[in-house]
Amino acid sequence: MKKKTMGAKPFLLPMTTVLAGASREGKANYMPVSFCGIIQQSPALIVISVGPTHYTNKAIKDSQGFSVNIPSADMVEITDYCGLISGVNNDKSVLFDNFYGKLENIPMIKECHLNLECKLVNSIDLGGTHELFIGEILESYIDEDCITNNLPDIKKIDPITYSVGSNEYWRVGEYIGKAWGVGKNYESIKK
Ligand SMILES: Cc1cc2nc3c(=O)[nH]c(=O)nc-3n(C[C@H](O)[C@H](O)[C@H](O)COP(=O)(O)O)c2cc1C
Repeated sequence: MKKKTMGAKPFLLPMTTVLAGASREGKANYMPVSFCGIIQQSPALIVISVGPTHYTNKAIKDSQGFSVNIPSADMVEITDYCGLISGVNNDKSVLFDNFYGKLENIPMIKECHLNLECKLVNSIDLGGTHELFIGEILESYIDEDCITNNLPDIKKIDPITYSVGSNEYWRVGEYIGKAWGVGKNYESIKK
């Protein structure tokens, strides 16, 4: 198949669709974030990249932390709505049932099956459109009915993925194999 060049585009497919939470002057706020990823296992570190004009940017600095809430596919409309309005002139705290864990000023969303509570450990101004916030995950919260074999169950959590460029939300598809396992079949084929 012939390759076509498409420019220096951020075409990482799929991306996450999480709701990042933080509070400012005691008010919880949430925004959808697709620029999000785990960057270290232990201590567990997560990064989100947030534009400087967003209310969330200031809220993270105020509350010195943030939460990462994983909305399920049935929350796609409210999730997108959080990206259409800003905490600058809207109170997004009323959209969800908020709860708090170890950090009293880091709000999390009860309706999301999975929540990560993070303490801000570093921020990096990239000198462009976004600023990086690195959080240490202090605790993870998961709805009991979304746990299988003592682990988060991706099928039950039913997360939303994001297709950048086409700006579409997609659901996770089928199970295709065990990591650090299915590759062994390939080795036996080679022999
Ligand atoms: C699917 C989706 C993903 C987004 N991802 C990001 C992101 O990674 N970083 C960012 O700065 N803005 C992102 N945005 C834009 C913000 O979520 C949006 O501007 C939001 O209204 C900001 O809210 P706030 O001002 O209350 O913080 C995304 C929006 C959508 C709909």
